[in-house]
Amino acid sequence: MRIPLSRIQLALFFILLCPVNIIGLWWAVGSPLVMDPNSICRKTKRLAGKQAELCQTQPEIVSEVARGARLGVRECQFQFRYRRWNCTSHNKYFGKVLQQDIRETAFVYAITAAGVTHAVTQACSMGELLQCGCEATRSRAPPRPPAAGPGEPAGSGEGGKWEWGGCGDDVEFGYEKSKQFMDTKRRRGKSDIRALVDLHNNEAGRLAVKLYMRMECKCHGLSGSCTLRTCWKKMAPFREVGDRLLERFKGASKVMGGNDGKTLIPVGHNIKPPDRQDLIYSAESPDFCQANRKTGSLGTRGRTCNSTAMDVSGCDLLCCERGHRDETLEFEENCLCRFHWCCVVQCKKCSVRKELSLCH
Ligand SMILES: *[C@@H]1O[C@H](CO)[C@@H](O)[C@H](O)[C@H]1NC(C)=O
Ligand SMILES: *[C@@H]1O[C@H](CO)[C@@H](O)[C@H](O)[C@H]1NC(C)=O
Repeated sequence: MRIPLSRIQLALFFILLCPVNIIGLWWAVGSPLVMDPNSICRKTKRLAGKQAELCQTQPEIVSEVARGARLGVRECQFQFRYRRWNCTSHNKYFGKVLQQDIRETAFVYAITAAGVTHAVTQACSMGELLQCGCEATRSRAPPRPPAAGPGEPAGSGEGGKWEWGGCGDDVEFGYEKSKQFMDTKRRRGKSDIRALVDLHNNEAGRLAVKLYMRMECKCHGLSGSCTLRTCWKKMAPFREVGDRLLERFKGASKVMGGNDGKTLIPVGHNIKPPDRQDLIYSAESPDFCQANRKTGSLGTRGRTCNSTAMDVSGCDLLCCERGHRDETLEFEENCLCRFHWCCVVQCKKCSVRKELSLCH
């Protein structure tokens, strides 16, 4: 049977040929496809090895992988919206950033691997994939005696009985698929150290999903008396995963290669070795103040800053002390919206003025 390929799957076929997977993946999901499908198809004929097998045997999973990468892109752009480097992906500068081994790269790898884990797992729970579904709870240990600690259903300490039920997220499946697709062959010429760093950050991203599952429960019993609850495990919303990884980004550890070329050791005195959830990098980031083709920096000229904030979004830091100008700009917005039976919403266009500070 021939399965028609969507644009994104075609894009992925193309990407899987690319020596640097993640750059291709981001390019495809972050921008409209500029290549025509025919030329991509011609290239796919040269697909070989494990990647080809994955693509041919699991095209549905390939499209979930792409969805996951897009989820990662959007979250990266949200988390970095006030920073000098703001994760804009639709330009050739982006690849330059990913070729370095800096904190920003660590975040991109982690959030992409996390996005893929999340999207594939979600697709399983929604019944969209043949290969997986809800988490099998039959084989799981019976619910422990109520302890009502974090992660335990609220109220389960009050002697209420509960058992596994509902549709739990099979995060193990998403985790494995993310691993299969993201932890693939490294580009030739990339150092062993660089490869270790990338794999570590991928894993940190997946763990940011897998280790923070939460319990959801439903009451059963006459008129909500809750004599029995059924509970299942759900992933946290992806925004929380992004928040968590941003914290890891801020506390990222610098590492260097050990003498054997196979281990990573923390740089600096009295630094605790990074754990599996920490993000790591080996080179310092450029300051991203000026546009620079080599580092992939777009510079911050013209960026909107916040003249009262003291953090990274403040004009001093964002504009690299070049100063800023205040401008009043007019925007059109929907306003005075009214609901008409049934079912249209009609709005007027209003122009609103906004004070913006823009970097020199
Ligand atoms: C991100 O930065 C680029 C370059 O500085 C800028 O053109 C773009 O508008 C920024 N995006 C957001 C959402 O602020
Ligand atoms: C600017 O920063 C201030 C202080 O941190 C904050 O209260 C305000 O919401 C920020 N404004 C915008 C538009 O983000």
